Amino acid sequence: MYPIILLCVVVALIFLYLIGRYNKNYWRKRGVAFYDKNKVFGLFWDFLTTEKAMFEILSEIYKSNENAPAVGIGSLMTPSLYVMDPQNVHHVMQTDFQSFTYRGPIINEGDLLGDNVLFMNGPRWKLMRQKLTPFFTAAKLRNMYYILDRTAQDFVEHLKQNPQKLKGNGFDRANEFCAAAIAAAVFGIGTDSSFVSPFLKMARDAFTLNWVTHLRYTVAHLSDSISKAVGVKFFKEQEPFFIGVVKQMFRAAEKDEIKKHYFTDICLSLRKAGVMKDLETGEELEPTDELLAAQGFFFYVAGVEPTASALFGALTELGKHPEIQAKLQKEVDETVEKHGKVTYEIISEMKYLDQVLNETLRIQTPVGFINRICTRDSVLPIGNIEVSKGTKLYIPIFDLHFDPKYFPEPEKFDPERFSPENKGSSDMAYMPFGKGGRVCIGMRYARLQVLAGLLHLLRHFDVLTHRVPGSRKYAKGQFQMRRVDNDIELIPRQM
Ligand code: HEM
Repeated sequence: MYPIILLCVVVALIFLYLIGRYNKNYWRKRGVAFYDKNKVFGLFWDFLTTEKAMFEILSEIYKSNENAPAVGIGSLMTPSLYVMDPQNVHHVMQTDFQSFTYRGPIINEGDLLGDNVLFMNGPRWKLMRQKLTPFFTAAKLRNMYYILDRTAQDFVEHLKQNPQKLKGNGFDRANEFCAAAIAAAVFGIGTDSSFVSPFLKMARDAFTLNWVTHLRYTVAHLSDSISKAVGVKFFKEQEPFFIGVVKQMFRAAEKDEIKKHYFTDICLSLRKAGVMKDLETGEELEPTDELLAAQGFFFYVAGVEPTASALFGALTELGKHPEIQAKLQKEVDETVEKHGKVTYEIISEMKYLDQVLNETLRIQTPVGFINRICTRDSVLPIGNIEVSKGTKLYIPIFDLHFDPKYFPEPEKFDPERFSPENKGSSDMAYMPFGKGGRVCIGMRYARLQVLAGLLHLLRHFDVLTHRVPGSRKYAKGQFQMRRVDNDIELIPRQM
């Protein structure tokens, strides 16, 4: 028995050694530096065996390969590349977008809620994205702003009624507001008492970070065939609740039992129009309840976790910088007093508020990096790097935002970087919502939701930031980037 086990171990080790050598040679032949630390499992070895977040591991590669345009990474037998030069990033995301339209990982059949526009690829993605885009027009956002505003005002009241919520667990508070706001604005679910709702629990569960979800994430990203063989599914636990709720919403809206609202409206009109068809590609998609629920599901979870991260990030930065906080409160107070109430139009009058949000999304960018898969051979301009079909790409957000070449003194929170005079100087390296054909579809909505929450909180509270003793700087996340070494205290203002 033992000799057989020993033989298997030796064969496995030789096999791994050969894969590692193959990966290194693959990139050496293309003149690209290689991440030597683990030639076979690349990023995922450290991810599974340390407390580091994925973006922190990528960041170590970025820092130790200063000025390299890209670095090859082991990922079993799939060529993988960390694209670091902003011009190469631009090539992948925009100039040659048609060669990099897939994001990955590939979602397995039966993962019903995973069949959403974030994970879809190719002609299916194109068709679904086209159909969902009208949901986020400026006119729609203008129409729904009053709902976000009302939720923000209700939230301020809720905090005043529950003073125990004013100190600590600031990220949870931001989550409560965001969950209620998106439930009301996008799904038409009233804000009363929804600051503690089953929806919020579901959204939190969908992004729970523990060893099971880390392992799932690792397998899905390392190898499509292993992921398929073991049947990785991302959102199985949330399926019964969310699909059930969406079906009920459709039935009620059809019978006119509830006021028709935006997401339901768009879904009902898609169902009524029947099979969706892309005339250019011939792709067809049947608008089943499950497919529509999957789109709603992702809108909902994206409206909670990353959006709450941005709101909490802004509050912690303001709590650390009283002078910036005071300047922003002055702008908000004066604008609201001038108009008597907050509307979609007056939000865009508050220029400093916008600068503060932009700088927050740089320094506390909720998504640390982006994935792409090459679908057609291409050549990256800087370094003349050949990228073959099937290569998995990692694109930095955090690393570009913290590179002093593009943002001098990157650790400094400085909204002046986004003043009208300075704006534009680092556009190429700034992309909290990604860029190109697959840029975040909810970007404008997300910004509006954060701004509504932030401005009403600042009208009624001062923010103080406290350090969390003994904490790591960042939570161990998959694609997420979230600081956990700060927490906030809200102090009612004397009005
Ligand atoms: C502050 C909050 C948010 C941040 C920082 C954020 C960031 C991102 C990023 C970085 C991407 C990847 C873009 C790329 O690959 O180029 C993305 C994609 C996406 N986001 Fe967001 N997002 C936020 C909120 C939202 C919200 C509220 C929604 C929906 C209501 C949403 C819906 C989506 C969708 C559907 C995609 C996939 C788009 C596609 O592949 O076509 N996001 N987001």
